[in-house]
Amino acid sequence: MLEQELHLSCGQTIPNRLAKAAMTERIAGADHNPNRYHLELYRTWAQNRPAPGLMISGNIMVDRNSLESAGNVVLEDERAMDRFQEWTAVAKSGGSRFWAQINHSGRQTSRLINMRPVSASSVQLHEKGLYGKPRALTEKEIRETIRRFATTARLCVEAGFEGVQVHAAHGYLLSQFLSPITNGRQDEWGGSLENRARFLLETVRAVRQEVGPSVALAVKLNSADFQKGGFDQEDSLSVAAMLEKEGIDLLEISGGNYESPSFLLNDAENVRESTKRREAYFIDFARQLRKRIKTPLMITGGFRSRSFCEEALSAGDTDLVGVARPFLTDPEFAGKFLSGEMQEARLPELKPAPMFGLMSEGGWYAYQISRRLSRGKQPKLSLGAFHAVMHILWHETKKAVAHRIAG
Ligand SMILES: Cc1cc2nc3c(=O)[nH]c(=O)nc-3n(C[C@H](O)[C@H](O)[C@H](O)COP(=O)(O)O)c2cc1C
Repeated sequence: MLEQELHLSCGQTIPNRLAKAAMTERIAGADHNPNRYHLELYRTWAQNRPAPGLMISGNIMVDRNSLESAGNVVLEDERAMDRFQEWTAVAKSGGSRFWAQINHSGRQTSRLINMRPVSASSVQLHEKGLYGKPRALTEKEIRETIRRFATTARLCVEAGFEGVQVHAAHGYLLSQFLSPITNGRQDEWGGSLENRARFLLETVRAVRQEVGPSVALAVKLNSADFQKGGFDQEDSLSVAAMLEKEGIDLLEISGGNYESPSFLLNDAENVRESTKRREAYFIDFARQLRKRIKTPLMITGGFRSRSFCEEALSAGDTDLVGVARPFLTDPEFAGKFLSGEMQEARLPELKPAPMFGLMSEGGWYAYQISRRLSRGKQPKLSLGAFHAVMHILWHETKKAVAHRIAG
């Protein structure tokens, strides 16, 4: 099954069932354009034989004041189109489809970038040190942000991306609107699930209108936030049904946010034991989803063995297997895995630095991208957690200062 093509309703064919899930690169300079490091990183992955059927870029931001990282790529206008075109050409050179993930970080924008981020409501992240108290977007600003998503999507297509994925998972702006914890609005953008989902649905509509019917349009959605009183599995099933009606081509399922990072750590209290044992974190949910919608699915998180991927694909639990970290621990992962040379991807057991759980995990992988793979080097698997935390703090601070100076 892994080697089988997947046909999407937009008319696009994905050459095999292995998808590289989005991983933020954090290697752009203060101009926020793709550079030689992006080219090196994606060339490394594109050179795999076979190459992954689909590669989704790290999040490309729709607004330079709302970044997930100071090293993010931002696409707001046509000024650096040639750079983006070079990037997509390299990524597609091995036969992979290359899609852009587009995002707005909302309240998950660090103080280094924006002291007063925006969100659905004025609810601050628990990690108060790093993240400022957000202010609620006005209705006019919501409309402008929807326009931004649509503009970035159009520019992505002009740049050569063959699809666009709207990021509505992991606690970023669209996910903040979906969750009753972060969305306490009384207007038509808050309250009922229909209202909380309005921002996402209108964004999807606006993007489709800009990119047309033959470009793949995908959404990344949480199966749940794994927080009491947050966006839960019932909500997610209903939103998935709404998205099906919008005619999206692919739905990617993940879960969690910065306060409950189950997409990365798989240790959220609410992730069921049975799910943990089952390798892919969100596969139980995928089975429920299958009963509700016909939209092709990409399940991401925890897939490591060929046998489990084959099982999930042949059982029809998912149409694409979404994988992230194994692409960083072995740059030749896709070729080895698809050809059968590698039966299982093994990731190093990381001992999180005390108090820095997410940061040591995130920092460890960020290091492999920025210091190793994007410079043509092999990953450094012996990197310790403390070093990883120091790396990410230093890297982000340096990039944020450059971002501030560039204005
Ligand atoms: C270094 C790194 C960066 C990530 N950046 C993004 C991102 O930009 N957008 C996104 O949707 N998910 C991002 N993720 C989450 C992955 O797409 C994926 O959901 C998660 O790593 C689980 O898959 P895995 O178990 O195969 O790694 C990132 C993960 C890692 C490790």
